[in-house]
Amino acid sequence: IPLKAELILEIRALKEEKNALILGHNYMEPALYTYVPDERGDSLELSRKAAGTDKPIIVFCGVKFMAETAKILNPSKKVLIPSLEAGCSLAESITAEDVRAIRALLPGVPIVTYVNTYADVKAESDYCCTSGNADRVVKALGGGTVVFLPDQYLASNVAEQLGRRILFLKKEDGGLSPTLYDREGKEAADVRDRSSWEGAVIGWGGRCEVHEKYTVDDVRRIRAQFPDVCVLAHPECPPEVVHEADFAGSTRAMIDYVESTEASRYLLLTECSMGDNIMAAHPEKKMLRLCSVRCPHMNQITLEQTRDALRYEQYEVFVDEQMRERALTAVERMLAL
Ligand code: 13P
Ligand code: SF4
Repeated sequence: IPLKAELILEIRALKEEKNALILGHNYMEPALYTYVPDERGDSLELSRKAAGTDKPIIVFCGVKFMAETAKILNPSKKVLIPSLEAGCSLAESITAEDVRAIRALLPGVPIVTYVNTYADVKAESDYCCTSGNADRVVKALGGGTVVFLPDQYLASNVAEQLGRRILFLKKEDGGLSPTLYDREGKEAADVRDRSSWEGAVIGWGGRCEVHEKYTVDDVRRIRAQFPDVCVLAHPECPPEVVHEADFAGSTRAMIDYVESTEASRYLLLTECSMGDNIMAAHPEKKMLRLCSVRCPHMNQITLEQTRDALRYEQYEVFVDEQMRERALTAVERMLAL
């Protein structure tokens, strides 16, 4: 970290000069996370911070869908992302055309879309949600059928938490199949027979390329070696992995849990920089490392690129105005909750 001190001071000076706000997601690498952002947090917290700022420039140290959400909330501000390569496998898993096709297949069914999607997908949705409020958003809609896009594991975890049935849509060569599938991929309902799916949470096939890597075996092996370990999982992990954990929640909820409990050691089933960041803030906490599971997209955001983002005011995020207004409705409905 000392070797980076000059760079960090340069970023801080540029931030003052440009009157910018720097937001940093909990998955930023330790030197950046610890010394650079004005605000750190999960997707929900950072959306709120983005909505509340009066600074003319926002630098988003996170991935593209997060920076886009900041732009949706702040159309008159300059929103910058330090790298154009910071995507997300969930955001790539669904298009606006897919959402229109789902609405045509299931007219009248509310569509809740995870924040890990691009603005055009949000614009086609009724509600946005994050891992920090997905259960609350679905619950607030009552007990009727809900389409939940695009993370299949988050959809399953939310459905389970709320005691709801989970079914999945499938895209085939000719478009969306009228058949709905269960978690094992077996045919379970038909959209033409409403009684076969009424009241279910209906999901899509997206997955986080980081959280899908964790397995039940990983957890059991660690527990066999360290029976006193406290295991925390992000709800983007497969449901059977979440079952093995002691706690599941958003990145912020996991940090709060570790900070407020006294386990002899912790294992985080999430992007591995977050464990490093907790260790840096709390050297007294023992964090086990299972992984080198680094999100390749979050990994694109470096101190050098954050400095250049401020220095050259790059890379600016743009969202078409009509699309932005429609996406804003879904995001504001979430923030109102
Ligand atoms: P959080 O909203 O929990 O920070 O999650 C964002 C994310 O991308 C997790 O992979
Ligand atoms: Fe997307 Fe997964 Fe990376 Fe989060 S960790 S940004 S969900 S690929």
